[in-house]
Amino acid sequence: MNVVMIGSGYVGLVSGACFAEFGANVTCVDVDKNKIEQLNAGQIPIYEPGLDDLVGRNVAAGRLTFTTEYSPAIENADLVFIAVGTPTRRGDGHADLVYVYDAARQIARHLSGFTVIVDKSTVPVGTARQVARIVREENPEADFDVASNPEFLREGAAISDFIRPDRVVLGVESERAEKLLRELYRPLNLIEAPIHVTNLESAELVKYASNAFLATKISFINEIANLCEHVGADVNAVAKGMGLDGRVGKKFLHAGPGYGGSCFPKDTTALLRIAQEHGASCRIVEATIEVNAAQKARMVKKIREALGGSESGKTVAVLGLTFKPETDDMRDAPSLAIIPNLIDKGATIRAHDPQGVEESRRLLPDGITYCDDIYETIAGADAIVLMTEWNEYRGLDFARISESVNGKIFVDLRNVYEPDVIAGHGFEYHGVGR
Ligand SMILES: NC(=O)c1ccc[n+]([C@@H]2O[C@H](COP(=O)([O-])OP(=O)(O)OC[C@H]3O[C@@H](n4cnc5c(N)ncnc54)[C@H](O)[C@@H]3O)[C@@H](O)[C@H]2O)c1
Repeated sequence: MNVVMIGSGYVGLVSGACFAEFGANVTCVDVDKNKIEQLNAGQIPIYEPGLDDLVGRNVAAGRLTFTTEYSPAIENADLVFIAVGTPTRRGDGHADLVYVYDAARQIARHLSGFTVIVDKSTVPVGTARQVARIVREENPEADFDVASNPEFLREGAAISDFIRPDRVVLGVESERAEKLLRELYRPLNLIEAPIHVTNLESAELVKYASNAFLATKISFINEIANLCEHVGADVNAVAKGMGLDGRVGKKFLHAGPGYGGSCFPKDTTALLRIAQEHGASCRIVEATIEVNAAQKARMVKKIREALGGSESGKTVAVLGLTFKPETDDMRDAPSLAIIPNLIDKGATIRAHDPQGVEESRRLLPDGITYCDDIYETIAGADAIVLMTEWNEYRGLDFARISESVNGKIFVDLRNVYEPDVIAGHGFEYHGVGR
C-alpha cells in the first residue's frame, strides 16, 4: 500500500514512520526544506523517544522516504494523509485551516487513480467536506473520497500510543475508503485495538470532545486543589481517593500549573468557537479555559508569596520549561506564561530543561541564564521552582542543594515531592493544593 503523509511534524513523522513499520510504503512530504534535509541526512528534527530508531529502521528497509515534492508520490498513492498544523487563528480563536486547505489544493493537482484523502490533523467539524469541495474544484476529474482519522498520540509516548492505541477512529462515507483504511490499520487487529467507524462529522468531533474532556479533568482538579489550600486538604490524597473509583479514573487528575502544549489550549478554544458558530452552548469548556488561565496566574502569585511577597531582586531557579516531560515541544507551555511575569516583577531567572532550551531561547525573554547542569542552575537561587516533572528532577540531592542556595524555598508546581520530606531537608515547601 502506498501512503503519503503531508506534513512531517510531531504527528506526520510519527504516523508516517509507524505506517511504514506496519509494512506500507510511506512518503513524508513537508514544505519545510530544512526539516526534509535533516530527515534525509538521518537526523530527527524533534525530540520523541524511540523515533530515531523507528525512522532509521524503516528508511533502511526502503519503506520510508522524505521529500518537499508532492509529485510523484501523490500520483502513486492509495491514501494521502493531511497532518499539517491547525494552530489557533489570530484574533478569533478558531482553528486556522490555511495549511489544510493549501495541502488539499496541492494534493488535488497530482491525483491519479482512486485515492482516499484523510484528515489526520485536528480540524473543526465540516472540514473533510471542505477538503472534498476544494479538491473537486481544483481537479473535477479526480477519483477520490475523503475520510477523517483523528490522531490521539501523546508527545513523549507517541510511538507506543500509535502502535497500541486505545482506539482508531475512522470517519468515512464510502465502503472503498473504509476498506483501504482498515487494510492500513490491519496490523492492529493482532492486539484487538478497537476500530471505531463513524461518519465524517462524528469522527471530527470525537477528537475535540476527547481533548476538551481531558482538559476539563485538569481544570477540575486544579479548582479542587485551590479549595484544598483553603480547607487544609491535600489534593494528591483527594485525587487518589477519587481516582480509585473506576467511573472517575485516576488519569488526568494531577493538579499543576495548568494545561499547555500543542493541543489542549488550541483545541478547547476551537471547540468553543465551533459551538458558538452553531449557536450551541459549551459552558463547561468555556469554564475549563478560564480556570486554566487563572491557574497560570495563581502560580505566579504562589511563587511571589513563597518569595515573601516580592520577586524583585530575587533569583529563581526554574527546573523544566517544556509543557510536559519527554518532549522538546514548548507550544503554550505554562513556563511561557509564568516566567515572563516573574521577570517583569524584577526576578532573575536561571533555567534548566533536558530538551527545551533551544526553543525557550526563541520564545522566552532575553536575560535568562540557561544551564546544562541542574545543580549549577540552582546555585545561588532564592527559590527553586519545579515547573515540569522530568525524571531528572525526581531525585534531587537536597543535601548538596542546601549548600549552594541562597534561600531554602522549594515551589513544586507538579507535586512531585512529599512536603514533609522537603521540610526534613530544611526547605520551605510550596505545592499545588496541599
Ligand atoms: N502534537 C501532538 O501531540 C498532536 C496529537 C494529536 C493531533 N495533533 C494534531 O495534528 C496536527 C499536526 O500537529 P503537529 O504537532 O504534528 O504539528 P507540527 O507543526 O509539528 O507539524 C506540521 C508540519 O506541517 C508542515 N506543513 C504545513 N503546511 C504544509 C503543506 N502545505 N504541505 C506540506 N507540509 C506542510 C509544516 O512545515 C510542519 O512541519 C494538528 O492539527 C494537531 O492538532 C497533534
